[in-house]
Amino acid sequence: MKVLVVGSGGREHALVWKIKASPLVKKVYCAPGNGGISKIAECVDIKDSDIEGLLKFAHEKKIDLTVVGPEVPLTLGIVDLFESEGLKIFGPSKKSARLEASKVFAKEFMYKYGIPTAPFKTFQDSHSAKQFFKTASFPIVIKADGLAAGKGVVIAQNKMEADKAIDQIMNEKIFKDAGNKVVIEDCLLGEEVSILAMSDGENYVVLDSSQDHKRIFDDDLGPNTGGMGAYSPAPIATIKLMDEVEKKVIEPTIVGMKKEGSLFKGILYAGIMVTSSGPKVLEFNVRFGDPETQAILPRLKNDIVELMNAACEGQLNDMELIWEKKSCVCVVMTSGGYPGTYETGKEITGLEECEKEKDCVVFHAGTKKENEKIVTSGGRVLGVTSLGRDIESAITSAYNMVDKIHFDRCFFRRDIGAKAIKKSSLIA
Ligand code: AMP
Ligand code: GLY
Repeated sequence: MKVLVVGSGGREHALVWKIKASPLVKKVYCAPGNGGISKIAECVDIKDSDIEGLLKFAHEKKIDLTVVGPEVPLTLGIVDLFESEGLKIFGPSKKSARLEASKVFAKEFMYKYGIPTAPFKTFQDSHSAKQFFKTASFPIVIKADGLAAGKGVVIAQNKMEADKAIDQIMNEKIFKDAGNKVVIEDCLLGEEVSILAMSDGENYVVLDSSQDHKRIFDDDLGPNTGGMGAYSPAPIATIKLMDEVEKKVIEPTIVGMKKEGSLFKGILYAGIMVTSSGPKVLEFNVRFGDPETQAILPRLKNDIVELMNAACEGQLNDMELIWEKKSCVCVVMTSGGYPGTYETGKEITGLEECEKEKDCVVFHAGTKKENEKIVTSGGRVLGVTSLGRDIESAITSAYNMVDKIHFDRCFFRRDIGAKAIKKSSLIA
């Protein structure tokens, strides 16, 4: 088979790496890809948002399966476009992608189908939102309705902060039309965990759990980022919790989307807050998580192409996932200054030495090949990933590799996975 992966981050490197391991696959292309992906697949210079360009390429190269990494092409309707021309593509339709593209849609859907989530209200104008704050209790969570590259959520501690967020989102339109509506919801307390499922529209399989580290600094301090590291499995996701999330979140979502006339095919990502009154959905994504995927895929023993083919053909009912018992940790190395401004073009050294290590893989995100060297080209640069017999040894081995890699002004968190160790010792 010839497979095309759409996207250019660490998640896409992990997908290309896993897809390449399938005996069904002869050739992998990635659009647009990055420096690391170019070592194992043919990168093509087409943006992930250029869905017409991607369609043309898929026809030209007679691509047998297209796999979409990021949300933007999904919300632009890449799946509908490819399927209308008879091309096989793994991901949800534009209508199903509303679970991520519209927080108003997602919250109303959850309310309708009794899926546990924070109580909420939606507002279409700033005046009524501000009126509501007069009697609301704080902290309160304000969310722009549409896609905002992970920056559309504000936790306001008081009315002044809430009014400011509303002004920025609804009046100054910092997220453009994504801020035409807002969701305002109760602030939930607890620990977050990511639970992903793969669905063919009717059947689904739930993937093992993982946990992201969203803040830039150790101990979850500082501003939010795209994700500074991840590990899988997450000890907080006990068998009981996984069962509850499956019954109360995954199953009703797949069934509900079918009832809405919008079969959900692809990856359903539930961002869960584990609260004292059970798991509650913080958000849905309609794609693999980044960096969760980097920590999940090295543990998946199945042939991912076989699974994706089955999902595209409505055959997931016959599939059972098999997991490596080991733990996996991914430490993200960033350009100094990220998530603010940062410099690029810095040469990365030490990668070859890491490639020799067993059970380790360095997934590239913001890198490119320049004069036979790998240089930085983005904020999140590498996802240094390692398996270990338990979380402690996976952490040790991932950080041993991090210590071998260097680029000017590189930055990373020192505590990826630390929460899991605390949790494991409590459970044991
Ligand atoms: P979202 O894009 O909806 O996942 O929100 C991004 C992040 O904001 C989540 O990962 C949480 O850390 C936080 N968040 C979102 N909704 C809530 C909530 N209702 N209560 C507390 N934190 C939240
Ligand atoms: N790790 C969060 C996300 O993929 O949206």
